[in-house]
Order: sequence, then C-alpha cells, then structure tokens
Amino acid sequence: MGSKNYSKALEDIKSTVNIVDVIGGAVPLKRAGSGYMACCPFHKEKTPSFSVSESKGFYHCFGCGEHGDVVTFVEKYYNLDFQGAVEKLCAQYGITIEETSGPDDRKRNEYYEANRLAARFFYDNISKKANKGYDYMAGRGLTAKTMQYFGIGYCPEEWTALTDHLRANGVSDRTMLELGLCSEKNGRVYDKFRGRVIFPIINVRGKVIGFGGRIIGQGEPKYLNSNESSVYLKKQNLYGINRSKDAIVREKYAIVVEGYMDCVSLYQSGIENVVASCGTALTPEQAKLINRYAKKVVLCYDSDKAGIAAALRGIDVLRGAGIEVRVLNVDDGKDPDEYIRKHGREAFLELIEKKSLPDVEYKVKILRESFDISDSTQGIKFLKDLAGIMRSLSPVEADIYIQKYSKEYSISEGALRREVESSAVSSKAAPAAKGSAPGKTPADSAQFARDVNLERMIIRLILLKGSYYETIRDYPEAFVTAKGMAVNTAFEALYSPGRDFDAEALKNELGEDERDLLERILDKVEVGDDPDRAFEDCVARLKEKRRKKRIREIQDILQMADALPEEAVDQEQIRALLGELQDISNLK
Ligand code: CTP
Ligand code: MN
Repeated sequence: MGSKNYSKALEDIKSTVNIVDVIGGAVPLKRAGSGYMACCPFHKEKTPSFSVSESKGFYHCFGCGEHGDVVTFVEKYYNLDFQGAVEKLCAQYGITIEETSGPDDRKRNEYYEANRLAARFFYDNISKKANKGYDYMAGRGLTAKTMQYFGIGYCPEEWTALTDHLRANGVSDRTMLELGLCSEKNGRVYDKFRGRVIFPIINVRGKVIGFGGRIIGQGEPKYLNSNESSVYLKKQNLYGINRSKDAIVREKYAIVVEGYMDCVSLYQSGIENVVASCGTALTPEQAKLINRYAKKVVLCYDSDKAGIAAALRGIDVLRGAGIEVRVLNVDDGKDPDEYIRKHGREAFLELIEKKSLPDVEYKVKILRESFDISDSTQGIKFLKDLAGIMRSLSPVEADIYIQKYSKEYSISEGALRREVESSAVSSKAAPAAKGSAPGKTPADSAQFARDVNLERMIIRLILLKGSYYETIRDYPEAFVTAKGMAVNTAFEALYSPGRDFDAEALKNELGEDERDLLERILDKVEVGDDPDRAFEDCVARLKEKRRKKRIREIQDILQMADALPEEAVDQEQIRALLGELQDISNLK
C-alpha cells in the first residue's frame, strides 16, 4: 500500500517556495531592512511587529511571539492541519506529492547520513595533515577559511580510505555504491574520488546531497560527480546556494557561473551572491530556486562556444520563470575565477556594470555575429531571426527594441515591425491545443509524437548495432526529447568505430530517468526481423524531415525578400535559392 510522502513534499516546499510570496499573498508586507514587516495576522495590533525573513524562511511576531515556517503559517492562517497545509502549498506551487511506502524516507536519511560522514572525512583529510589536496587548493589561491566555509576536502590516494571509514561507521556498501561515493569491480568496492579535491554539494537546508571531485592538476576526467539519487537531483540544485542565499537576497540578484572554482573564488573575493550551475544547462527547477531569493540574474559564463550556448538556453529558462536576465561574457576567454584573482572584486563588479548586456541585447549580438549581413541572403535571414526575438517580447519591450535595432542596422522600422507582427498573427491563427506548450498546435503535437517514436526506434537500433551510430551522428535532430538528447550525448562519449555499445557502460553515463528510458526501450521497442531495413527506413524519414525543413526555410527567405526594396536583394542569390527549391521540391 502506498501512502503519500509528505516529508519529501515538505523538503520540496522548503527548497522552492518563497515564504514572502506565501505570506505576502495573505498579509500586506512591507520591506524593512533585510526582511519584511506587517501587522500581525495572529493578534490585534496597530504598529507592525510581525516580521518575515526571506532567506531564513521563517516569520516571527515580536508582539505575540507567534513564529514558524511557511507551512506553519499556512496551517495557522488558513486553519489547516499539517497535511492540509502541505497539500495546499503543493497544489499552489505545482509540487507533486509522491506515493511512497515508509522505507523511502529511511533510505533518504541513510543517504544524508552517509554523505555527511563522507564530507566530514574529506574535510578532515584536507585540513588535518599535509596533503596534495590542500597544496593544490592553496596554490589556486583558496584560504583555509574558504575551504572550511565550503567544506572543501580531499580524498586520499589509497583505494579504500573512504570505503573503510564509512563501513566502520555502519554505512552499507550498497548505500555507498548507490550514492556514487564508491565504485565496484569484480566484487571489490573501492573509492571513486581517489586523489581528488572534493566539493560537497549542499542544499539550502544544509544537507550534503552530492560531491564533485576534481583531479589535481591536469588529467581526465577533470571532474567526477556523485550519482543522482533520491537526495540528489542535479536539475534541482545549484552549487553554493547554501552559502550565497543571504547575499542574493541582500544584493537582489544572483550571479550564475559555470564551475565550482568560479563560485568559491568569487565568494572568497567578496562577491558572495554567486552560485554555479556545474556545467549543465539551467533548468526550470533551478530558476525557481533562484526566484525564491531574487528576481534578477547575471549569467556569467565562459565566452567559448559551449558557454554561449549555455547562456542562450539559460536566458529562456530564466525568463520563463519571470527572472530578469543579464549576460556577461568574461573577456579574453578567461573564466570568472581567473579574472577575479587577477583583477579583484571591484574590477569584476565594474565588468558586470559596464559589460553585461540585457538578455535581449545579448541574443541580438550573438545572432548578429553569426551572419555576414553584407550577403543579402544572410542579411534577410538575420532580419527574420531578429524579428523572431522581438516577437518573444512583451509589446512594450518589443517596441523599444524595434526602434533601437532599426536605427542600429539601418532597417526600415515599419518593415521590421510588419515582420514581427505578420508572423505573430499567423501563429495566433492556429489556436494552441489545451495542455500542450504555448504556440503548439494539435498537428505539432501529433508530429512530435511521431518524432518521439522515431527517436526511440533509432536508439533501439543503435543499441542493437553500434555501427548505426556512424550514420546517426550526422543527424543530431533525430533526438528530440531531453532524455533522448542525453542518451545521444552518452552515445557520443562512448562511441568507438566498429564496436557495439555496452548497455551497462551507457547506463553509467546517464541519470536515473534516462536509465529508465533505456530499459523501457530495450523492453518495449520492437525492431522486427530486418534491422538493416528498419534502420534505412529511419534514415529515410530523417532525410525527408530535413528536406521539408529546408523547403520551409527557403520559402521564408523568399517571402522576406519580397517585402524588401529590390536593390537590397541580390537577385543572383534569389535565383540560386529558387533553383534549389525547385530541385528539392521535385524529389517526390
Ligand atoms: N564539469 C563536470 N565534469 C567535467 C567537466 C566539468 O561536471 N568533466 C562541471 C563542473 O561542475 C565544473 C563545471 O562543469 O565546475 C565547469 O567546467 P570547467 O570550466 O571545465 O571547470 P572549472 O570549474 O573552471 O574548473 P577549473 O578552474 O579547476 O579548471
Ligand atoms: Mn576554471
């Protein structure tokens, strides 16, 4: 019999719901110092003595002494019992209350305890005697105080230092393996992070949920991370949030960097409102987590290709959560850690002030750099994409930016405006299907379902014959779901010509959800008795999709060209595009 897992829901509430939002919805709150004040809803008073701390997540009345957290508030204010309050908050903030049977909670507590012991062990190792970890970190400018503050540690080079320590403290091998603190080969369990410096990942409630281990000096892999588990969901956490949340509230914005070192280094230099996304794309859950403390973010990623891609995706995710975003690419390809060590806090803050761009301007800048607009086909494509960016904005914002960019790029303001509006109208004409993503039509959804089936079939076939991946590598668009893309990344990482994929090795590269997906695909997707034929079929479908996409693209460009004065358009290119269109349209 499953029952509802209220304690898990409670953790989720505490780590995602902003107490000021909740109390502010019931009582008019006024900012006061670092917190908020109101007249107490629990006793009669004329001058406010009821105070709420956003970062600490509790309220206290200095008049009547009532106090508690977000759940107690909802219980008392709305006259609910504990479960009722949890249910109300979960419904309001879209948190699912999972079904569980008791042991799950026990397991989670075991995990927390094992992680706590491991963190303590690593820290004792770095702080108590001479060791390479300390020398390495000190060599990179970290003080002993910073190491202590972030609990940075060191795992000795021996094979089983941590394993032995945890066993002696009653942690089972199974727990260590599930958490990814240890690995196993031929029945032998051994430390995973041997000889690495350790960054413990700690959630807002101060619990150690995972670890990142960096190799000392050069070498691969540079980082090893602990496994996803019921206490560590990568997509829900940000490194450093346990230390930086107060500063984020105080400064009213969060700086998001990529790496552990960037985060720790900025913090040590006096920029404390910083968290790290740890090299993965920001998720809506992470955006919500930030949103609990501040409504503004400065994304501060490397200026390499990966950093730019991460920033562009991050912008959309953060905007989606209602957060105002600016982007700063630290110049000369340096990362924030190197920059601040060289130039210091003031210079870094000045960089944010003078060099960071509002998200829209950043997007347009990157877009502009990807086109050679002296070439008219590219110029048209640029305008089209520019209009696309404008279209995603609120009318007021769009208006301001349309004026700005039509001046800046000498485009007729009317033409840009018409482009923005014309496509906006056509996308409105098809009403969105209920329950699907905004702007998606039922036909889109059906197409998406077909694409998902194709993705699954392709994954199944590649698992059957590694050589199919050779072809599929050229069709990254075959992977359309987030999990499918993660599987593709794992394929890419493990691919070696002429060899089949090892399902176990693949699973090791993947998170829990993607592992489940692989299991299901292996279990459910039927290939039939002619896999080569099935594969040819898949490739034919991918080719067909590409062809259709290119046709649409050319049609769009031609339509755009029609709206421009003749002298602005290179007729040679138009003829070439028309030729290409004819060729590929006649295929079938
Ligand atoms: N990362 C990872 N696994 C890797 C490489 C990177 O998990 N093999 C994550 C880590 O969280 C890392 C972040 O991506 O902190 C950014 O990567 P990178 O910029 O390469 O590392 P830094 O944190 O800058 O580390 P360092 O300065 O020590 O090179
Ligand atoms: Mn770095």
